[in-house]
Amino acid sequence: MLPLDQVRRSLESAGQSHVLQFWPELCEEERDGLLQELSQLDLEGLREHCEGAARAAASPSVRVDQYMEPVPPESVGSVRKSEPDRLSAWESEGLLQISQSRVGVLLLAGGQGTRLGVQYPKGMYDVGLPSGKTLYQIQAERIHKVQELADQKHGSKCTVPWFIMTSEFTLAPTEKFFKENNYFGLEPSNIVMFEQRMIPAVTFDGKVILQGKGKIAMAPDGNGGLYQALVDNKVLEDMKKRGVEYLHVYCVDNILVKMADPVFMGFCLSKGADCGAKVVAKAYPAEPVGVICRLRGITQVVEYSEILPETAELRGSDGELIYSTGNICNHFFTRAFLNDVAKKFKGKLKQHVAIKKVPFVDSEGNQVTPTKPNGIKMEKFVFDVFPFSRNFVAFEVERQDEFSPLKNAAGAATDTPTTARSSLLAQHYRWATAAGGKLLDQHGNPLPHTASVSAGDTPPSQCEISPLVSYFGEGLEQLLRGRTLPSPFILDEKRAKELQSQ
Ligand code: UD1
Repeated sequence: MLPLDQVRRSLESAGQSHVLQFWPELCEEERDGLLQELSQLDLEGLREHCEGAARAAASPSVRVDQYMEPVPPESVGSVRKSEPDRLSAWESEGLLQISQSRVGVLLLAGGQGTRLGVQYPKGMYDVGLPSGKTLYQIQAERIHKVQELADQKHGSKCTVPWFIMTSEFTLAPTEKFFKENNYFGLEPSNIVMFEQRMIPAVTFDGKVILQGKGKIAMAPDGNGGLYQALVDNKVLEDMKKRGVEYLHVYCVDNILVKMADPVFMGFCLSKGADCGAKVVAKAYPAEPVGVICRLRGITQVVEYSEILPETAELRGSDGELIYSTGNICNHFFTRAFLNDVAKKFKGKLKQHVAIKKVPFVDSEGNQVTPTKPNGIKMEKFVFDVFPFSRNFVAFEVERQDEFSPLKNAAGAATDTPTTARSSLLAQHYRWATAAGGKLLDQHGNPLPHTASVSAGDTPPSQCEISPLVSYFGEGLEQLLRGRTLPSPFILDEKRAKELQSQ
C-alpha cells in the first residue's frame, strides 16, 4: 500500500484531489480500503485516463459505417458449405493437437452481467435444465469429454488447461464456486484464474467518480483488458510452461459453446492462421452481435453498439443482410500471436466509450442515484487485435448447434434463460433422434422422428444428454438406437452404463 502523502500528491498532479475530500470523515477501515484501491491504480496515467475519457465522450463519435465493406463470402470458412470429409479432417487435426496438450481454453468472465441482473458471476447461472447444471459445470464437462475423445483416439493422457479471466467482481465468488463443486472433477492445477484490471469511471468533465465517500466507482477495463491481464499475471509464461500453443478464447454465456472445438482448431491450423473468429449468420438486423467486416480493407469486428441501424439493415439483391457475419465471441489465437500483442500492440488497442448511469456521492456528501447518464466507462474489446494479425480467418458455424447466449433476464424477448435452455434441449432432441432413439412427450405419446427441432422452438421433450456422455452428438447410437425414451430423460454417465449393459 502506498503512503497517504504520496497518493495525495499524485492525485493533485492528476487534477483529482476531490477523491480525498471525505478522508477526514472516514473510519480507519474505510481509509485502509480507499488507500488500497488508490494504490492499485495507475496514478501516473490517471490524468491521461480522465482527460482522455472526457475528450472521447465529448468528440462526435467517428462513424465507421462509411468505410465498411462486407467480407467476401469465399474468405469465410463454413461448416455448412464444407464436405463431411473436410470437416472430419479438421476435427482429426484438432484432436491431435489436443491429445498433445497443445490446446488451452480461455474464458472471459470478468463482466458484470448487468443485463441478466444477477449479483453473482454469470457462469454460476442455472438456466433450469432437468439436471440443474450451471453454465460452468456444462463447460467443465465438455473440457473433460474433449480430453477423453483425444486420449481415446491417440492413446494419450492429455490436458486442456482452463484459463479464466475474472475481475474484482467475479474472482472471489468464482473461486469459491469452483472449490465448492470440487472443480467439477477437473484437476485444480489445470484451472488458472487471474484478474483483469479495473479502471475508474469518470464524469463528463474528467473527474473520477466517487461511488461512496471512501470508494471510487470502478469498472473492469473491458474484455480487451485480457492482453494486459495476461502480462500482469504472467499467464503467457504459464501457457508456455504447459506447452500450450493454441487457445480457444470464449465468452461465458453461450450455453452451446464447443470447448476447444477440434473442428475450429483444425480449420484455423489448416489455414496457417494466427487469429480466428467463429461467426453465425445474424438472426435479425438489430441482433446485438458485432459483425466481421472490412474497414479500409482490413478485416475486423464492428461492435453492434457502433454500427448505424440503417447499415445493419442493408440487404443485397438476394434479400440477405449485407453485414450478416455475426461475431459469437469465440476466438482462436496462437500463443505466438498473443505474445506479439502483449509486446507490441496492447498499448495500441482502441478505447471504446460507454456512457452509463453511475451512482455517486456529490460534493456535499449526498448519495445520488442518477436518472440520466452521468459517467464515462472506457472499455477495450477482445477482438480489436484482429487487425494486428498476419493471417486472420473467420469460420461460420450453425447457430442452432453453436450459439445461444444468455444475456437477458427472464421475460425479455431474446437471449434469456428460457431460450438458452430450449436451445440445448432442442439440440439434444436432435442428437437423440438422429441416433435412433424414440422420444416420448411428457404424457407418454410418441414424438415425430424428426431432426428439425431448432433453437427457438420449445423442445417437445425434456431430453438432456450430459457432456460427459457425448461432446457433440457422437457415440449415442450404441446407447439409444431403437430405445423408447420418456420425458424427462437425462442421459448421464450412470444411465449410459446401464444402457450399455442392457
Ligand atoms: C460480445 C461481443 C460481441 C458478440 C457477443 C456475442 C465483445 C466486446 N463483444 O458482446 O461482438 O457479438 O458477445 O455474444 O467481445 N467480459 C470480461 N471483462 C469485461 C467485460 C466483459 O471478461 O470487462 C466478458 C464477459 O464476462 C463475457 C464476455 O466478455 O463473457 C462478453 O461480454 P458481454 O458484455 O457479454 O459482451 P456482449 O456485449 O454481449
